[in-house]
Amino acid sequence: MSLHVLAHPLAQHVLTHLRDKTTKPVLFRTLSYQISLLLALEATRDLATTDKEIETPLEKVTAKVLAKPLVVVPILRAGLGMLQPFHDVFPDVSVGYVGLERDHETAIARSYYCKLPPLAGARVLVVDPMLATGGSAAQAITLVKAQGATEIGFVCIVAAPEGVATLQKAHPDIPIHTGALDRQLNARKYILPGLGDFGDRLYGT
Ligand code: PRP
Ligand code: URA
Repeated sequence: MSLHVLAHPLAQHVLTHLRDKTTKPVLFRTLSYQISLLLALEATRDLATTDKEIETPLEKVTAKVLAKPLVVVPILRAGLGMLQPFHDVFPDVSVGYVGLERDHETAIARSYYCKLPPLAGARVLVVDPMLATGGSAAQAITLVKAQGATEIGFVCIVAAPEGVATLQKAHPDIPIHTGALDRQLNARKYILPGLGDFGDRLYGT
């Protein structure tokens, strides 16, 4: 499994403001959009293309179009903060939803919702801003595999080394794209330095 850390200076700038505890939800949502757009482009860099004959105003030409459907699967609820740029860049994208919530005491994720479109033959990107213990991401990827997905990637904004190791062990075939690889988890399984509870900061809860 490969780990790709976004190297763009704009990503680092945006991350700094996402991490800042004084950033309010309205700006937090805009920053989430911006970094997710950069991640969306990076995670789809290797999408297959196919030839298409078209006519420009001047002549016929054989040009390229995307060859496979793209499906994005945000993990509810924080993953919704990463969805819009995928809609904006890939107008034909389909969306599936996986609802997972970590228990506040054990940090083990409980599944409460799953609605997925047909996934066989599609590129599937599971998106969730925080890869902490890796439990949520591993569960979500198990669900999309069970639905027939074979070409899968995982996209997050901040990853902890512990989450990367868990996901690599559970699903060694899945590439991970992240905006940052942070230091470690704390005793409550939050990422350090991290940015706190992403869902709470996104929705002001
Ligand atoms: C957060 C985050 C991930 C999960 C990561 O969600 O959005 O889904 O924690 O932690 P893990 O890698 O240890 O599983 P949370 O459970 O807080 O739910 P929310 O998105 O509804 O806020
Ligand atoms: N979920 C979050 O929102 N933040 C963390 O640091 C860990 C899990």
